[in-house]
Amino acid sequence: MAASWSPDSWRNKPVVQIPNYPDAAMLTDVEARLSKVPPLVFAGESRDLKAKLADVAAGKAFLLQGGDCAESFKEHAADNIRDYFRVFLQMSVALTFAGGSPVVKVGRIAGQFAKPRSADMEKVGDVELPSYRGDIINGSEFTAEERIPDPERQIMAYNQAAATLNLIRAFAQGGYSNLEHVHNWTLGTFQKSTAGEKYREMTDRIGEAISFMRACGVTPENTASLRSTSFYTSHEALLLGYEQALTRKDTTSGDWYATSGHMVWIGDRTRQLDHAHVEYCRGIKNPLGVKCGPSTKPDDLIKLIDILNPQNEPGRLTLIARFGSDEVEKHLPALIRAVEKEGKSVVWSCDPMHGNTIKAASNYKTRPFERILKEVHQFFDIHQAEGTYPGGVHIEMTGQDVTECIGGTAAIGETDLSDRYHTHCDPRLNCDQSLELAFLIAEHIRVARSEEAAPLSATG
Ligand code: PEP
Ligand code: CO
Repeated sequence: MAASWSPDSWRNKPVVQIPNYPDAAMLTDVEARLSKVPPLVFAGESRDLKAKLADVAAGKAFLLQGGDCAESFKEHAADNIRDYFRVFLQMSVALTFAGGSPVVKVGRIAGQFAKPRSADMEKVGDVELPSYRGDIINGSEFTAEERIPDPERQIMAYNQAAATLNLIRAFAQGGYSNLEHVHNWTLGTFQKSTAGEKYREMTDRIGEAISFMRACGVTPENTASLRSTSFYTSHEALLLGYEQALTRKDTTSGDWYATSGHMVWIGDRTRQLDHAHVEYCRGIKNPLGVKCGPSTKPDDLIKLIDILNPQNEPGRLTLIARFGSDEVEKHLPALIRAVEKEGKSVVWSCDPMHGNTIKAASNYKTRPFERILKEVHQFFDIHQAEGTYPGGVHIEMTGQDVTECIGGTAAIGETDLSDRYHTHCDPRLNCDQSLELAFLIAEHIRVARSEEAAPLSATG
């Protein structure tokens, strides 16, 4: 029998990646205030998402999860949110069309504020200060004052998440997501490239399909699924005091839910079996993600699955593989086999970002587009070889024209990084690179599907 759980039982466990707040009284006060604010999302929505993820686990849908590495207080303009949402929808349309199955859309947004760090301290010249841990905790500017964890930032993060979610709900439901518009949006430099030409071909075919449906009487005006979309939010459940304050008992089911977002995940640095983050997450009923990096041992993964999903409920757990293109072939097959052998139901998703970070000569952290794409291809190929389903991708991206990742048809080079390097944490794919990646993944899926449909064509 599992030990009893409560929203604060994590406080009795060892914990990493949560800072000490110098003003403990203020922290208690902020958490008390947050425990009385309205929930950002409802339990029923999280249950809907879980049902959709169960379809992914069954190989009947595909998960697209993505957004900022770290949302920031500074970059909270409506235009940023709109541009992100637009490119995310275009990516999902490409994937839906290629895969011929629904795409479950989950943003890293409206709550993605807390960051785990590999080093507690950051050194610039002779000065050493505590690392930046995300706007919900401290400031990114390199001054002693900014780097002090400030509880009041949690209230600001909650308010920003509420405003972001409000706009996104409007975009998703209020006509902006009308499929007839989405396939017509312009595409920037990617449009002019060879891959962009192929993308155009795809959108032309989507346009034809829409015209055909219109002729048959199926239009956005009379069919809700053509004029609106379902979009869910997610973030890393890192700052457990904040998460606890927003944990509410659902009156319908009597179950506990994190109401800070529809789905939350446990990061690669905080998935220790007996630690606080696993303890908190096991008791909430939301869909959960777990990042799996090179240090994940198959036995530990099975133990973790038993703790987080003891009923083996489909859709509850998404394993997000983030090995890097150099490591994925070494580690992923053993994890897949362990999960298969134990008969565990999971969604396998690929985060091709976090294992492919390098330091450019200019000292900027960057990620080569080619390595990102390669890891996704490897992920698909490994699943094909194991007879399992590659269920989704998890991307750090923005709708802005930043220069943070190198490569892609936009041909961003190392010397371009300083032009528009705006991220508060890890380098993100820009709008063109995001769309290009989605399109290339869509192509991979389309080819795999046509090979499946005509298995003998190669041999005649
Ligand atoms: C992240 O997703 O931003 C992150 C820190 O990932 P990971 O836990 O996989 O390193
Ligand atoms: Co990141």
